[in-house]
Amino acid sequence: MSEEVFARRSENWFALKDKHGFIYRERLRNQGYAPDVFINKPVIGIASTWSELNPCNGHLNRVAEAVKRGVWESGGFPLEFPAMSLGEPIMRPTTMLYRNLLAMEAEELIRANPLDGVVLLAGCDKTPPGLLMGAASVDLPTLMITGGPMLNGRYQGKTLGSGTAVWKYSEELRAGKMTIEEFFAMESCSARSNGSCMTMGTASTMACVTEALGVQLPGSAAIPAVDARRYSTSHEAGRRIVQMVHEDQRLSKVLTREAFENAIRVNAAIGGSTNAVVHLLAIAGRIGVKLELDDFDRLARDVPVLVNLMPSGKYLMEEFFDAGGLPVVMKEIESLLHTDHITVSGKTVAENIANAKSWNDDVITPMAKPFQKSGSGIVVVRGSLAPNGAVLKISAATPSLLQHRGVAMVFDRIEEYLEVADDPDLDVTPDTVLVLRNAGPMGYPGFPEVGNMPLPKKILEMGITDMVRVSDARMSGTAYGTVVLHVSPEGAAGGPLALVENGDEIELDVANRSLTLHVSEEVLAERRAKWSNPNPLPDRGWSRLYVQHVQQAHLGADFDFLVGGSGSGIPRHSH
Ligand code: FES
Repeated sequence: MSEEVFARRSENWFALKDKHGFIYRERLRNQGYAPDVFINKPVIGIASTWSELNPCNGHLNRVAEAVKRGVWESGGFPLEFPAMSLGEPIMRPTTMLYRNLLAMEAEELIRANPLDGVVLLAGCDKTPPGLLMGAASVDLPTLMITGGPMLNGRYQGKTLGSGTAVWKYSEELRAGKMTIEEFFAMESCSARSNGSCMTMGTASTMACVTEALGVQLPGSAAIPAVDARRYSTSHEAGRRIVQMVHEDQRLSKVLTREAFENAIRVNAAIGGSTNAVVHLLAIAGRIGVKLELDDFDRLARDVPVLVNLMPSGKYLMEEFFDAGGLPVVMKEIESLLHTDHITVSGKTVAENIANAKSWNDDVITPMAKPFQKSGSGIVVVRGSLAPNGAVLKISAATPSLLQHRGVAMVFDRIEEYLEVADDPDLDVTPDTVLVLRNAGPMGYPGFPEVGNMPLPKKILEMGITDMVRVSDARMSGTAYGTVVLHVSPEGAAGGPLALVENGDEIELDVANRSLTLHVSEEVLAERRAKWSNPNPLPDRGWSRLYVQHVQQAHLGADFDFLVGGSGSGIPRHSH
């Protein structure tokens, strides 16, 4: 029997009166559930990425308990299950290598089990997009709860932003401005609680972006991980997901083209991470929404950055939450949003933000007096060096470098660069353009966050803090600099980036959105004829599958065979 015969999906397991139903109910009853939990109750899966190996998500087991309270209370039957957790600060070589693996796992777990709706417990950088991609390919009623940011870091009377502090102080250590003892002391002060990085890095960006997409309850993205309100919101989310099942509010009714446009504009207004580009493209691909790299530039051009948070500004997520959080930002840019878009709250965006009010205009600045003017977010540049595009975050860059022509210094591996970065004889000037390749999706493999190459020591000692860097890599959302990222096609795919040589001239012209390699087509053709991919195909395992199927950055770096969805049809019995 493979066709769905009951109105509610889980009844195709639990309402069966034959041996199959016996087996499905019997084994769950070994957990001590009363018999009536199997009768007429929406079954809510709680996909948790809790893990002791992912400190950013170390509290999600407590969040799950809060969700369960709400599910039970509303007449549902909650069943928590683990999903792969991707701990950004711990996993090597890079969590991005595994985002698609989590997405595959989440998709198959959701479809294979007797679930009517799903709550996704995510945090850190990759579990929100990974879970959402997987859930989108199944398309059940789905609600996400992100884990929230850590408390602010504190060090010697100063506020420290996690992620951002490491870049700043590791450069100070290299430049001899800080002792190793001071460095060790600092590291114990910058992660004071459970939760994700408390800057507007990728985790906070993805939390806000999922709220802007409408898949997370309004006002919840910025609640600190250890704040009681994160747990009360999760309790409410548990109630709401049961209603969503009754209303058949599937993910595809929330993740519309309008939702993605809202998310792109919100990402611009919060000064969000470049990683959001890759993840939103991948999520859109799963749910069948046509989204392109250029949408990010076009939709963000008239959006000012309103949020004064590190790494671009000075505050952290705690202040952002106290100032009113994301609903205030959305209220400020209301005229640019699709406000009739329906969200998981069951209400429209307009209804969600109707009472939003800023409590601190310095943290969330008004549209009339923005923190940074329109078009300061992510821009897309193209040209002979990046025919399919590349991205740059203006708010993290140095204005004087946004128009720059310089001589390329090329590195085939980030490790190769790091070996010489401190060499006092390195032939580099502040005008040099540092080029890194073989760090894209296929090349590394896994698309690591190494695009913001640390500056050569020789340059740091001149008091210079930024140079133009160009690569096919990503960059941490907490990093800064005039860094052109996600160059597509990447070097390992034989893109023009693979053909650059030391001494070539590269021109970045952000005003005209161009990235030009000043080398003639004839010379490039000669180099192309001699080029061979320096990256051997991994022998086996996940890395091999990854390299064979990962798409380029401008398509979201999803696997070619995972784009789209297979729905929530009932799998066959095996007994
Ligand atoms: Fe997990 Fe930054 S390392 S959010």
